[in-house]
Amino acid sequence: MLGQLSPIGALSLRRSVTFFAGGFVCILALQACSSGTPSSPAAGGTGATPAQRPAHDQAMEEFVDSVLAKLTLEEKLGQLAQYRGRGTPTGPQVPEGGEAEIRAGRVGSFLGVHGAAYTREMQRIAVEQSRARIPLLFAEDVIHGFRTIFPVPLAEAASWDVGAVERAARVAATEAAAAGLHWTFAPMVDIARDARWGRIVEGAGEDPYIGAAMAAARVRGFQGKDLRDPLTIMATAKHFVAYGAAEAGRDYNTTDVSERTLREIYLPPFKAAVEAGVGSVMGAFNEVSGVPMHANGVLINGVLRREWGWDGVVVSDYTGVMELMPHGIAADRTQAGILAITAGVDIDMVSGIYIEQLPAAVRAGHISEAVVDEAVRRVLRAKYRLGLFEDPFRSSDPDREARLTLAAEHIAEARALARKSIVLLKNSPRGGAPVLPLRKDLRTLAVIGTLAQDRASALGSWAVSGREEDAISVLDGIRQAVPRTKVLFAAGAPVEDNDASGIAEAVRVARGADAVIMVLGEHRDMSAEARNRTSLDLPGAQLQLLQAITATGVPVAVVLMNGRPLSIPWLDENVPAILETWYLGVQMGPAVADVLFGDYNPGGKLPVTFPRTVGQTPLYYNHKNTGRPPSEEDRYTSKYIDVPWTPLYPFGYGLSYTTFAYSAPRLSATRIAAADSISVQVEVSNTGPRAGDEVVQLYVRDDVASVTRPVRELRGFERITLEPGQSRTVSFTLRPDHLAFYNQRMQRVVEPGFFTVWVGASSVDDARPARFEVVGDVQTVAP
Ligand code: NOJ
Repeated sequence: MLGQLSPIGALSLRRSVTFFAGGFVCILALQACSSGTPSSPAAGGTGATPAQRPAHDQAMEEFVDSVLAKLTLEEKLGQLAQYRGRGTPTGPQVPEGGEAEIRAGRVGSFLGVHGAAYTREMQRIAVEQSRARIPLLFAEDVIHGFRTIFPVPLAEAASWDVGAVERAARVAATEAAAAGLHWTFAPMVDIARDARWGRIVEGAGEDPYIGAAMAAARVRGFQGKDLRDPLTIMATAKHFVAYGAAEAGRDYNTTDVSERTLREIYLPPFKAAVEAGVGSVMGAFNEVSGVPMHANGVLINGVLRREWGWDGVVVSDYTGVMELMPHGIAADRTQAGILAITAGVDIDMVSGIYIEQLPAAVRAGHISEAVVDEAVRRVLRAKYRLGLFEDPFRSSDPDREARLTLAAEHIAEARALARKSIVLLKNSPRGGAPVLPLRKDLRTLAVIGTLAQDRASALGSWAVSGREEDAISVLDGIRQAVPRTKVLFAAGAPVEDNDASGIAEAVRVARGADAVIMVLGEHRDMSAEARNRTSLDLPGAQLQLLQAITATGVPVAVVLMNGRPLSIPWLDENVPAILETWYLGVQMGPAVADVLFGDYNPGGKLPVTFPRTVGQTPLYYNHKNTGRPPSEEDRYTSKYIDVPWTPLYPFGYGLSYTTFAYSAPRLSATRIAAADSISVQVEVSNTGPRAGDEVVQLYVRDDVASVTRPVRELRGFERITLEPGQSRTVSFTLRPDHLAFYNQRMQRVVEPGFFTVWVGASSVDDARPARFEVVGDVQTVAP
C-alpha cells in the first residue's frame, strides 16, 4: 500500500541499536545554558541515563531522511502547520484548514477533527492528491474520555488508583482512535497549588509524586505498548512548563519560579511522561524567568531534549507562537516564528506563522533550513511511529467506530473509576448513627440543588466529544437506585447568580422528606480554561439555600460537584455528611448513588488541599517549615490573625464507612548508605463493620539538610481493599531518588543525616513516625 500512496518506496525491516545523545545539566542559572538546537554540542554534565534514551531506529531514520529529501521548503513547513478543524476555538478566531491546504501540502496536522468517515476522506486527499502524499495527523483534546467520559483528571487523581487511571486512558484511546484520531493533547501534568486557577481541574493536583504517577499512567494508557496498534493514540504531556504557577491563579499569567522549584515541583511529571515514552509535549502559554515558553530553548531543547534525551515532537499551544508578540519578545510574526522554531517548537498550532512567514525567512537566510529539517524529521518520526506510512487509514473505520463507541465495558470502567474518585469529607453521627450511607427504604427523599439534574456539569470541562445525553445526572442516578422511594426535587437556587427566589419552595419540599440530599458546587464552566475565581466559596445563593434547608431539621447530606477545592467552613461545621464528587462523567449519577446508599464504600483521598478561605491560597502540604513555624502561643510566627493557618481538609484526606488502624512502620534498617534503598512495612487493618478501601500513604522528611526541605513529601502510596477484620502488610521501598534533592550547587544528591518517615491515612497523620540515618558520603543521583 505504501508503494501506491507514497513516492518513498516500501519500508525495510526495523533494526534497533541504542543511541546515546549528549546530555547536559544547567547549574544554577538556567538561562546561561545553551539554547541552540539539540544537535549543538552538549555543555557537560551527566544527562539522562542510557535506559531513558529512545532506541535509535536506523530504518526509521533512513525512511524519514528519504521523505525529507523530496520535500520543497513549503512542503516541509506545511508538515509543521496545524490547522483548526471544525472544533471550538480556544483562543482567537483563526481560519479553518480544509481540502485546499491539504492538496497544496500546506498542512501536516489538524486539531479538532474526528469521525471515521470524515478523517478517512481528508486522509485520502492527503495521500492521493497532494504532491508529497504524506499522511495527516488528526488531533483532539481527549482529556478524560472520548465519548465515554470519565471523571475529570483531578477526580481521577482522587482515586489514587494508578491502574484504573491507566485503563481510563486506554478506553479513551480506543474510542478516539476508532473515530479516526491519532493524537491527544493529554495528559495535562501541570502541578497546581492555587485553587483559584480554573485549570486545576485538568491535572492531578498539587503534588509532584502523585502527579508523576498519574502522568505516566495516562501516557501508558493512551499509547499502549506500540503506537502502531491502531487502537492507540499519541499522548501529549502539557503544558511545558510551570503553567500551574500562574501568578494570582490567573490563567495565562506570568510565572516566577526558581530553578529548584521548577526541578523539584513542576518538572517531575513531565520527566515521568518522558520516561513512559510520551510522543509529544505541548508548550505553555506562560513565561519562565522572563522567557515565554514558546521561545524557551533552554528548557525545550536544553532540558527536555538534551538533558532528558527525548526525541518526540513539541507542539505549540493554541496561537502560542503568535503570542510571542504580545509577550513583547517578537516584533512581528516572522520574528515570532524564528524564535519558536529555534527554541524547539516543531508544530505551530493555528498561528499560521510557520507556513506563512518562515519560507521567506529561510530564503533570506534569517534562519537555517537545517532547523526546519530537524523539526520536520520529528513530525515524520511521529507519523512513522504511528504506522501512518504503512496504513494512513489505520484507525478510520466506521464499523469499528460504531462498535467501540460507548461500549458496555467502557461504561463499566467509567462507573468503577467514578466511584473510586469520590471522597467522603465528613460523616458525623446524627441520632446515634452516621448519616451516610442512607437507607434504601426511606419513604420520601428530597434532592435539592440545580446541579443534581445538570448532565452537562456531570461531564465536566474538556469533554470535547462527550454528549450530555450520554450522562446520567445525580438525580436520575438516585431515582434508579431507590425505585420504591418517593424522590422529590427542587432546584432551589441557580449556581450562576444570586437569585434566591426558589429557596422557599425548596424548603417546602425538604419539609416533606425523611432526608435531604443537597447537590451543590460549581457549574462545569466555572472550573476550566480561562475560568479563574477570586472566591472559593459556593457560588450564587447556594449557601443561603443550604442554611435554609438545614434549619428545617431534616437530616442533610451534601454532594459537592466542583473542579477545584472550595472554601466550605460553614458546611464543615453545620452539615453532618459531605461527599466530594467532583465531575464524574457519564456515570456520575449511578456512582454517587452507589456511595450514598452504601453499595460502594468511598475510599478516595484529596489530591489537593482545601483551604478555609481563599485568603490562604496558595496552600499546599509540602511547604517549608520557615524559621518561625506557626504556633498558637507565639505571636511572631508565620500565621494569620483572622483564620487558622491549617487547611480545612488536608492533602491525602478522606474518610470511609469503615475504620482502619495502622501499625508502627517497620524499617529494614536504621542506618543506610546514601546509595542504598530501605524498605518500609506497615500493617493496615480494617477495624470497622464494612469492607472498604484505604489509600496507604508514605511521607518522608530530610530532617536537616544543606538547603531547606519540605515538612514532608509523598514518596509512596497504595490503594488497598480490606474486608472487615482483615489486615494486610503494605511494603514500600525508599530509593535514593526518593531521598534526593538539589543542593546549593544544584546537584541532585542524598546527604547523610536523619530522615523521618510517616505511613498513614493523610498528609497530617503524624502518629507513629519512624527514623533512619543515612551515613557515609553524599551520593549524587541522576536528575
Ligand atoms: C488551549 C489549551 O491551553 C490546550 O490545553 C489545548 O490542548 C489547546 N487549546 C487545543 O484545544
